[in-house]
Amino acid sequence: MANEVKTIGVLTSGGDAPGMNAAIRAVVRAGIHKGMRVMGIRRGYNGLINGDMVEMGLRDVSDIIQRGGTMLYTARCKKFREEAGVQKAVDVCKEYGIDGIVVIGGDGSFRGARDLSLKGIPCVGIPGTIDTDIACSEYTVGYDTAMNTAMYMVDKIRDTSQSHDRCSVVEVMGRHAGHIALNTGIACGASAVLVPEIPYDLENELIPKIDQTRKMGKQHFIIVMAEGVSFAARDAGIVEKPEDYSKYVAETIEKATGIESRATVLGHVQRGGSPTVRDRVVASQMGYEAVQLLSKGIGNRVVAMQQSEIVNFDIYEALAMKKTIDEKLYEIAGTISI
Ligand code: F6P
Repeated sequence: MANEVKTIGVLTSGGDAPGMNAAIRAVVRAGIHKGMRVMGIRRGYNGLINGDMVEMGLRDVSDIIQRGGTMLYTARCKKFREEAGVQKAVDVCKEYGIDGIVVIGGDGSFRGARDLSLKGIPCVGIPGTIDTDIACSEYTVGYDTAMNTAMYMVDKIRDTSQSHDRCSVVEVMGRHAGHIALNTGIACGASAVLVPEIPYDLENELIPKIDQTRKMGKQHFIIVMAEGVSFAARDAGIVEKPEDYSKYVAETIEKATGIESRATVLGHVQRGGSPTVRDRVVASQMGYEAVQLLSKGIGNRVVAMQQSEIVNFDIYEALAMKKTIDEKLYEIAGTISI
């Protein structure tokens, strides 16, 4: 039977993540290997609505595997949340002869992929987000690089924290998820890790713990906190702006313990940089797999990793799953941070 799928598109959507370029490269090359045309769609779903796309050849994806960011640019597209936007994208796909699309991004991007699949344009998602908050996959492209960046930054903060006998409160990314915070916290020997998934008590738990470990000889302290904790504090009316919360925690610790404290928000530095081996390899595996599915006309799927194997899930099923924090790891972090 002749291959019905002649042209596929690839786009990156939502927050960028290191390794997205490696995924684009894999999609383009695996697609061409299958005898398909591959269109690079710019700025996520916006490019699909506006017809902002270009055919990509083998050499168009040379020298990008080692680069952070995304050569196709990315965006969050409001129009695509409306029926009219999705319909416009379908019309553009028909105009350009696009038979399927690989969407590299997070949950929000997969909702768009589901809507397009429903309208007859098969889409396959690749989890690309530093937060690793995609429940169906134990890994997402960008996570390892982001954690390593955060670890290097916290190591640097530790040097100055140690020199001054200070307490450093470091906020890492993760609006709804504490995976970066938990792993970075363990890797950096943090005295405490604060994550949005697990409640903590600043006055009655964290501060007494700092006092207690100080009595046991600890002289400087690192607290790693997920961004989501800041948002929760704003929503609970504790601070006005989310960026004030790490400062509030540092000031509260200083007031209660007398230990000079400082707050640092790492921010977008965590989203950039050259991807690690893991991110380049997983991105290549997932890009290849997405093309195999689309080449058979299979859409409405998310490529995922389970027990280190590449698998795929129905998008509805994938979006209904909930990722939990590793409570055992959280317990380990708490136990050995004394
Ligand atoms: O990519 C996910 C994420 O990094 C979150 O952890 C963070 O809250 C958000 O993106 C920041 O997004 P923006 O770049 O739009 O500020």
